[in-house]
Amino acid sequence: MRRKLFAANWKMNLTPSEGRSLLAALRAHLDPDAATLARDREVLVAPAFLAIPAAAQALAGSAIALGAQNMHFEAKGAFTGEVSAAMLRYFGVSHVIVGHSERRHLFGESDESVGRRAAAVAAARMTPIVCVGETAAQHDAGHTLEVVLRQLQHGLALIAPEQATTAVIAYEPVWAIGTGRTATPEQAQSVHGAIRSVLDDRFGNPVAAAIRILYGGSVTEENVDSLMAKPDIDGALVGGASLKADSFARIVRAKLQQG
Ligand code: 13P
Repeated sequence: MRRKLFAANWKMNLTPSEGRSLLAALRAHLDPDAATLARDREVLVAPAFLAIPAAAQALAGSAIALGAQNMHFEAKGAFTGEVSAAMLRYFGVSHVIVGHSERRHLFGESDESVGRRAAAVAAARMTPIVCVGETAAQHDAGHTLEVVLRQLQHGLALIAPEQATTAVIAYEPVWAIGTGRTATPEQAQSVHGAIRSVLDDRFGNPVAAAIRILYGGSVTEENVDSLMAKPDIDGALVGGASLKADSFARIVRAKLQQG
């Protein structure tokens, strides 16, 4: 069975010292049960770039993995404001979020650029977390699957089957992000199921069955259990509720069905 992945996206929150404190508190919650938790789940935190070095120190010796919120696809050069794979790997980053809806909608990242970023992450032997999700207007117009599956095709366009097994998809409906309006488990499952079948067409069964598909958008300790009960929801990408150690720790401890 796929191990669930609980990922914290801190977005543009927490200075290095605030991040260090949060991680100390999170470790106090999770470290005592790390071996038990690791049987069926993984934990990841993605701080802002400048908090990554402090987070790497704070996570030394823990089972919690370190992620980044974005990465450029070129290895180096005249790309003001961007960060490369080598810079992230230097600090032990293992996962990189690409194509978050805030990157797409606030910073103009295109489907094509997201695909190049995902491929560069995989080529650097890190795990891309490729985000997809429709806006409220697209949702209301009934275009959810068309939008999500187009983003998925572009996001994975340059990923080879042997790289795909470890890739992660995150379905984050834009109307659910930061709004308190979570997708119902049924809504999320229906999109996750469609994503899984596209992955199956593209990569074939063993690979498609190994890829984790996370749900993101107002995940809380109250709604996480019912989301995780769905067969194609393989974890959560958590924004607001990841900024408090106790609430994120409770999300990580979600009740999971025996797989
Ligand atoms: P919220 O959990 O704050 O809705 O954010 C979700 C998200 O965008 C995670 O990447």
